[in-house]
Amino acid sequence: MVKKDRPKFPDSYIGKQAKEYDTSNWMERNQKNTTARCVELLFDSNLGPFPEFDNSELLVLDLGCGTGFSTEILLEERFNVISIDILSDMIYLFREKNIDTFNLVLADIRNLPIRENKIDHIISVSSFNFIYEDILDNNEKNKILQQTVEIFKEVLNNNGRVILEFYPETEVDTKLLMRYFKSAGFNGFLVQDNPGLRKEQNFLILKKEEN
Ligand SMILES: C[S@@+](CC[C@H](N)C(=O)[O-])C[C@H]1O[C@@H](n2cnc3c(N)ncnc32)[C@H](O)[C@@H]1O
Repeated sequence: MVKKDRPKFPDSYIGKQAKEYDTSNWMERNQKNTTARCVELLFDSNLGPFPEFDNSELLVLDLGCGTGFSTEILLEERFNVISIDILSDMIYLFREKNIDTFNLVLADIRNLPIRENKIDHIISVSSFNFIYEDILDNNEKNKILQQTVEIFKEVLNNNGRVILEFYPETEVDTKLLMRYFKSAGFNGFLVQDNPGLRKEQNFLILKKEEN
C-alpha cells in the first residue's frame, strides 16, 4: 500500500485553497475520472444483477461533493443527485457554477439530514477519510465509523449500493470498515486499481442486502 501526501482537512479546502482546488485542471480531471470509475463499479455484476432502472429514476448521494466535480459526472450519467459537503467555502464555489443538482446541502457525512429509505445509491470520492482521520482515540474512531455505517443503512433503500473511493492508511482500517458494513447487513468487497503504484486507488463496493 502506497502512502501519499494528502491534503490536510480543513485547511486545504477553505479560502484561497478552496479556489485553488476548484481551478486546478489536474484536480478536475482526476476527480472526474475517479467518479467515472465509481459509476462503472456501481454496476459491478459481482454485487449481483443491477435492477433495470433508468439512471434518471435513481437518487444518488454525492458525499463530500466539494466544488462539484464528482456531481457533474453523476449528472452527466443522468442520475438525480443530492450533493453534500461540510464546508461552506466549497459549497459556495459549487453554487456559483449553477450545477443542476437536485439539492446542494451543507451537512456532515456522519450525520446526514435525510429520511429513512430515500436514497438509491451513495458515492463518495476522496472524502470518506476525513470523517475519522484526525481521531486518535481508537474507540472514538470505531464509534464514528460504526455510526456512519448505520446511517448509510438507514437512508438507503434495500439493494442500495455504496461506492467509497478512499485512502486506506492501513489494511486494518479497510478490514475494520468492511467488518462494520458486513455486520450492518451489507455485502461487498475492496477493489484496488494500480496496486503498489503511486496512482493506486481503493474503492469499497457495497450493497445493502434486503432485510
Ligand atoms: C477532495 S475534496 C472533494 C472531492 C469531490 N468529491 C470532488 O469531486 O472534487 C473532499 C471534500 O470532502 C469534504 N468533507 C470532509 N469531511 C466531510 C464530512 N464530515 N462531511 C461532509 N463533507 C466532508 C471536504 O469539505 C471536501 O470538500
